[in-house]
Amino acid sequence: MSHDTATLDATSASASAPEAAKPRKVFVKTYGCQMNVYDSDRMTDALSKDGYEATETLEEADLVLLNTCHIREKAAEKVYSELGRLRDMKKARAKDGREMVIGITGCVAQAEGAEILRRAPAVDLVIGPQTYHRLPDAVKRAKRGERVIETDYAIEDKFEHLPAPEKARTRLRGVTAFLTVQEGCDKFCTFCVVPYTRGSEVSRPVAQIVSEAEKLVDGGVREITLLGQNVNAWHGTGPDGTEWGLGDLLARLSEIEGLARLRYTTSHPRDMDDSLIEAHRNLPKLMPYLHLPVQSGSDRILKAMNRRHTAAEYIALIERIRAVQPDIAISGDFIVGFPGETDDDFEDTLRVIEAVGYAQAFSFKYSIRPGTPGAEMDGHIAENVKAERLEKLQALLFRQQNAFAEACVGKEIDLLLEKPGRMPGQLVGRSPWLQPVNVDANGCEIGDIIKVRITGTGRNSLFAEAIGWRADLKGA
Ligand code: 5AD
Ligand code: SF4
Repeated sequence: MSHDTATLDATSASASAPEAAKPRKVFVKTYGCQMNVYDSDRMTDALSKDGYEATETLEEADLVLLNTCHIREKAAEKVYSELGRLRDMKKARAKDGREMVIGITGCVAQAEGAEILRRAPAVDLVIGPQTYHRLPDAVKRAKRGERVIETDYAIEDKFEHLPAPEKARTRLRGVTAFLTVQEGCDKFCTFCVVPYTRGSEVSRPVAQIVSEAEKLVDGGVREITLLGQNVNAWHGTGPDGTEWGLGDLLARLSEIEGLARLRYTTSHPRDMDDSLIEAHRNLPKLMPYLHLPVQSGSDRILKAMNRRHTAAEYIALIERIRAVQPDIAISGDFIVGFPGETDDDFEDTLRVIEAVGYAQAFSFKYSIRPGTPGAEMDGHIAENVKAERLEKLQALLFRQQNAFAEACVGKEIDLLLEKPGRMPGQLVGRSPWLQPVNVDANGCEIGDIIKVRITGTGRNSLFAEAIGWRADLKGA
């Protein structure tokens, strides 16, 4: 996925760039999670100070950044194959006397930086996720001929050094935005690389988050999704000196006028504290959607995964959340074929899925991440068994997702209009439960929240009709 910053405000970017006669162009290719999308935007912002404008056309880029993800299998191989293409392009450019700087950022850079520099001579710089504020300087050094590697965990706070989103730019990015509030993870699930690539858990301070959220809202953003690898482990100190959890932070952000909706992702079951559960009862701006991965339904496998909760505790937690917010859509992540998983363990996972009823889900075959404890475990499962289990699990989840969507038909909901649809006069928005909804909304604008009635379901979206006249439509 290449991200959407190509529409950066060119005048503001080049005005602050004394050394740039002609604006230079940066192409960022973003892989993986929303946090990488957020980081790509912040990197582009940081580079704009040196006269770089974002482009979505690789051919016109002077600087190419691959913002990589390590959570999926064969992540490094994908990067090397992309680098093969870039190397050829760089060579062709060199013949015409044109420069092309290539940088690798993100979690693959963090995990395999030195190896990348060794294997791929075309790469000029490698920067891990904790050191993005040093990117502009690294680019300058690379242009002077140095091969730069910055993967030490920074002691300084990268967020203090990265520019906050600017008004004009965020407006161009649309009416929804991500805001990173927490990074890293101390949970050490035995299948996962995140604690090694993103480092230990760090929370951003309240004042920094509030000021960034206010800037986003000033720039036209109506919905903010708080991001963190372990977002509900976020903690901080409130202005009154008391210890705050994510529920308190959401309550503070709810007070921002003009902000209509809040979401957060991704959560760990062990960090769903009372204040966060209560926030789902008390904060009308907090959308009824919760991504709460369980990974497996077998207590034996959960233990081997170091999840530190049981299946029954997870189900009880979902029940507590539904007791305060019956309307909530639950989403999850699942891994099948973790080392040692028997047919009975797998059946336990299906039972948890039956008990919970998911509106949305992401499911994966276990695959080895070198350096994680899971890689060293006995009892690795054959590929064909994993594939069979995944198919069965996905069929069940698919039925649940369809049932959830079907149950929406006939409901009257608020819809935040986000972008034009395929048909003239059509706009696409998100339901409170995060489903894309297509609606004929003549006269309405992107950013409006309108009342609609759901009329039908599509493959991955819903259809709706606007209710009433335009004057009645303007929502919160
Ligand atoms: N194998 C398969 N899936 C994994 N995930 C993380 N690591 C692995 C792995 N080694 C999945 C988990 C996580 C999601 C982001 O990716 O389900 O929640
Ligand atoms: Fe990885 Fe999430 Fe487990 Fe942390 S809590 S180790 S990010 S799966």
